[in-house]
Amino acid sequence: MSLTQSPRYLITGASSGIGEELARQLAKKGYIIGLVARRKERLNTLKEELLESPGKVFIHAVDLANEIETTKAFTKLVSAMGGLDGIILNAGVGRDDLKAPWESDAQTIDINIRAFAHGLHWAFAHFQKQGHGHIVGMSSIASHLASGHAPVYTASKHFVSNYMTGFRMKVNALNMKLDITDIRPGYVVSEMTQNNPNTFWMASTHRAVKMMIQGIEKKKKRIYITKRWRLLAELADLIPYFIWNRLSF
Ligand SMILES: NC(=O)c1ccc[n+]([C@@H]2O[C@H](COP(=O)([O-])OP(=O)(O)OC[C@H]3O[C@@H](n4cnc5c(N)ncnc54)[C@H](OP(=O)(O)O)[C@@H]3O)[C@@H](O)[C@H]2O)c1
Repeated sequence: MSLTQSPRYLITGASSGIGEELARQLAKKGYIIGLVARRKERLNTLKEELLESPGKVFIHAVDLANEIETTKAFTKLVSAMGGLDGIILNAGVGRDDLKAPWESDAQTIDINIRAFAHGLHWAFAHFQKQGHGHIVGMSSIASHLASGHAPVYTASKHFVSNYMTGFRMKVNALNMKLDITDIRPGYVVSEMTQNNPNTFWMASTHRAVKMMIQGIEKKKKRIYITKRWRLLAELADLIPYFIWNRLSF
């Protein structure tokens, strides 16, 4: 990337919540962004809203569970954007009470684990070929926890964070110029949290995303949103296994 080139980032899950706000704030900073999600009308509205921003916005509606269509969408967006400097793998789902328990868990595995891993593989190969890049993954404070309410969600975020650590080790072994940023938010206002009555330390989407972008631009390895969640994460890591097995929540 030349010094005058605007940074070019792909963002998955940009039709609502954190992804939508990332798109908004990055476009206002002049980034060239490619946005992916299933709800095309939401992406269109966001693109319209950002027409006057200094950045450029490209959109492609796709279901990330469809790997062939996702690869096509990423490739088309990168071509329209004139290249790629980073990807923010943000799309994710929580427990869906409208679905049967297994259907809900299966969807979380498909999106939070499989689609995340597919996106990371695609990006790794792309950046390895071009010799530089930045992969940002949306994990969660849940990567430090277990939960009886949403066992698959917490497990999926353990996967996300641990997978990124493994890829960072691969980057070190291959001596590559590739940054990997693991974002671990606590509670942030979004569609995912709007019906959850058990939230606390909730951050506004605007504030949370502003902090995320500060960390992304510094190419930090790990970011807690907001910072106080780091304390809870460190405490959770100290809890022995036999205590986790006795907890009920
Ligand atoms: N909000 C929080 O408190 C919190 C805390 C920690 C971590 N996170 C993580 O932050 C990320 C964003 O969540 P959010 O809170 O902003 O929730 P959200 O408002 O529900 O956004 C989720 C995004 O993921 C997209 N998505 C879901 N399934 C998809 C699929 N099959 N194909 C393509 N896109 C898909 C959705 O778009 P479509 O429905 O249009 O496809 C939407 O844009 C998630 O990974 C979540 O786990 C959130």
